[in-house]
Formats: sequence, structure tokens, C-alpha cells
Amino acid sequence: MWIEVLVTVVAVLFGLRILYRKTSGRCHSQRSLTGKTAIVTGGSAGLGKFTAKDLVRRGARVILACRNLEKACKVAAWIREAEGSVGEVVVRELDTSDLASVRQFANEILLTEKSLHILVNNAGIIGFKDKRMTKDDLELTMATNHYGHFLLTNLLLGNHWFIKSLDVTSAALNFKTEPYNRIRAYGKSKVCNILFTLELASKLSGTGVTANSLHPGVIHTDLINPHPLILLTGRGGTQTTIHLAVSEEVKRVRKILRGLQGGKDIGFSM
Ligand SMILES: NC(=O)c1ccc[n+]([C@@H]2O[C@H](COP(=O)([O-])OP(=O)(O)OC[C@H]3O[C@@H](n4cnc5c(N)ncnc54)[C@H](OP(=O)(O)O)[C@@H]3O)[C@@H](O)[C@H]2O)c1
Repeated sequence: MWIEVLVTVVAVLFGLRILYRKTSGRCHSQRSLTGKTAIVTGGSAGLGKFTAKDLVRRGARVILACRNLEKACKVAAWIREAEGSVGEVVVRELDTSDLASVRQFANEILLTEKSLHILVNNAGIIGFKDKRMTKDDLELTMATNHYGHFLLTNLLLGNHWFIKSLDVTSAALNFKTEPYNRIRAYGKSKVCNILFTLELASKLSGTGVTANSLHPGVIHTDLINPHPLILLTGRGGTQTTIHLAVSEEVKRVRKILRGLQGGKDIGFSM
């Protein structure tokens, strides 16, 4: 009896997985990115590494902005082996939870890169059960997912004209006024990503630079790993990111994609 129940449960789970894969969107753009430069933060794993691989396949020079250089170099080697000499992939150090690291990375990019066309603010954590603060006295999940990317985007855009209204030392955002909770910290950081991107899109209106936010779906990566049977894999989960980064359809378009509630991608015009 229990074997029949088990077989039925497994069959249903596999059925759900196939249905999910068949109905999930695909980016069909064949756009070439030859001559374009892209940065993917957190390109050393999960969605970031598959996004980077796709951009390299299209001919882009892709900078993997990562905190773990050894891991990032292995991903770079994997991309080079898979994609040959189509695009180019390089590794640079960036810890998004450390504001000094963000400044150093941005300075290096501004000094060494002639232009930047795509910035994929992807690095993220769900965080730990206990509250942790960074050396900048910011709550770790907020710092990793939002503050670091907020600062990075502004530094790369040239922050002299940009809004300065978000208080990054806010006691509330850093759980100084309420008990820390990892899911709330993750949620707050993602809401900040969306608000930031919406405001950025508005500020950039008419400049030819677009900013969009997205939710990739529920994807089987190191971040979310509850049940591999019913989730998309990292490669499938990158389709929305790639669509926003490369499709002519969303060039100079400002919108939040259908049913989306989190994530963040800044696409510089091409
Ligand atoms: N997977 C999902 O279902 C899902 C759903 C909604 C949103 N998202 C969002 O998608 C993004 C990517 O998630 P994922 O699922 O691919 O997670 P993942 O497999 O855990 O990969 C996260 C990446 O972020 C990097 N990272 C973490 N902290 C960093 C820091 N301080 N500085 C620089 N890099 C850092 C990690 O680097 P290391 O290799 O050094 O750890 C890794 O490369 C996140 O923003 C996440 O919130 C994912």
C-alpha cells in the first residue's frame, strides 16, 4: 500500500516539474552582444553563473563580480570551455556586503572599462537564523542584497545627479527597532531593490538607460533548495534576467514583469 502512495507522490511531483518547465517562459532573443560589456554580481553560482554564460555565448565581455575568487575562476573556466572564444569572461573581486569593497570594485571598473552596457545586480543571500551585522554596521542580508547594489549602481552611473533620499543607516532597515528575522530581512532587502529600481527607472527616463526588476521564479540553486523535483534549474531560471538584459522589446521600456515581486536587474542601454 505505502509503495503505491509513494509511487503516486513521485509521479505527481515529476508531472508538476514537467508542467512547470513547459509553461515557464523562455527568452527567444537571438541578440548578439559582441562589443558589449556586462557585469554579473554573484556570478560564481546559481542564476548568476548561467546568466553570465548566456551573455558570453552572445559575444559579450562579461565581468564576474564575486567575493570568492577561487570559485569564480572555476566558473570562468567552465564558461570558457563551454563557449570557446565567442565572448570573454573575466573575474573581479566584489563583496556586496562591504561598502569599501563596492567602492574599490567600482573605481577599478571606471578606470579599466571603456564602457558598460549591462549590469545584472544578482548576488544575494537569504541570510542566517541569527542577526549579523557587517563592519559598516548594516544588517548582513540588507547589505548584501540591497545596500551594496544600490551603492554600486550609483557609483557606476555617476552619483552626482542621483537621489540621496534613502537612509542606508536606518534603524528599522537594520533591525535595531524590531527583532531580527531572516525572512523579513530578505523580504525588506528585495522590496528595497524594487523601490530603488522603480525610482532609478523614473530618474533615468529619457536618458536611453533602462532599469527593470524581476522575479526569476522559484529556482533550484544554493539559495533555495527545498525540493529539486518541482523547481526549475539555474539555467531555466535565468530566462527573465536574460530577456531584460538583451531583448529589443524591453529596450527603453519601464515595467515590472508580470507577477514579479523581487530581484533586480539594471540594463544600461545598448
Ligand atoms: N533561486 C530562486 O528561486 C530565487 C528566487 C527569487 C529571487 N532569487 C534571487 O536571485 C539571485 C541569485 O540567487 P541564486 O538562487 O542564484 O542563489 P545562489 O545560488 O546562492 O547564488 C548566490 C550568488 O550570490 C553571491 N553572493 C552572496 N553574497 C555575496 C556577497 N556578499 N558579495 C558578492 N557575492 C555574493 C554568491 O557568491 P558565493 O559563490 O561566494 O557564495 C553566489 O554567487 C538572488 O538575488 C536571489 O535573491 C532567487
